[in-house]
Amino acid sequence: MHELTVSHIREAADYITSVTSDKPEIGLIMGSGLGILGDYIEEATVIPYHEIPHFPISTVEGHAGELMIGKLSGRTVVLMRGRFHMYEGYGPELTAFPVRVMKALGVKQLIVTNAAGGINTGFNPGDLMIITDHINLTGCNPLIGRNDEQLGARFPDMSQAYSRRLGATANEEASKLGFGLREGVYVGVLGPSYETPAEIRMMRTMGADAVGMSTVAEVIAARHSGIEVLGISCISNMASGILDQPLSHQEVIETTEKVKAQFLGLILAVIPAI
Ligand code: HPA
Repeated sequence: MHELTVSHIREAADYITSVTSDKPEIGLIMGSGLGILGDYIEEATVIPYHEIPHFPISTVEGHAGELMIGKLSGRTVVLMRGRFHMYEGYGPELTAFPVRVMKALGVKQLIVTNAAGGINTGFNPGDLMIITDHINLTGCNPLIGRNDEQLGARFPDMSQAYSRRLGATANEEASKLGFGLREGVYVGVLGPSYETPAEIRMMRTMGADAVGMSTVAEVIAARHSGIEVLGISCISNMASGILDQPLSHQEVIETTEKVKAQFLGLILAVIPAI
């Protein structure tokens, strides 16, 4: 395992602060197809990942791979256009690295979004779901290895991984915009193969409402760092075995595309309210 230390985080953060004097307060990690939120950032500083020391580089289709810093809805934000998935071959500590860099830049709150398969049969593709909690079934954890107390506790509390306060704010903003949000438990898996119907039945029995291949490592790193988290999933498809049809990445992209305007409107409304 390639260990990333405080000095790697410092070097990455120092590079970013050498490019922009903006001091981001809110971090945003956008899922498949939602990186377009970056287009709304005013006077954005755009930094390709490959320029940032120690930053991994994103490989999956639909994920650009750049950090954007600037003003969004009146707040200074840092947005990851493209994120790192463990199925791409990155270790969990690499997927969490950008979160640690955000913390070093001064980020207090993180908004994470993703596309997820609906396990709860009451959900429909296109629904947006506030993540109330997660189940980590990736078999990985970004905190494995030596713990640096400067970064966080050896055994960090995860009893409120997703802030109830931020979730309530998202609910209020959605109703002001005239739509409702689902709420539920996100189960994180390694991927990249989709689940089998038997796995989905198991996850439903466990109490999961949606499944996806991102988010959990980032959120664990955020909580370890003392960052408050708001997580929102776009239910892009019904999970395996619910409908009599195969799952495809194409379906995920198409559904995300359909609800994009609503999803982006929600994030833009939530930012000034948190
Ligand atoms: N399973 C896992 N990850 C996903 C899914 C799914 O059904 N949809 C979008 N991401």
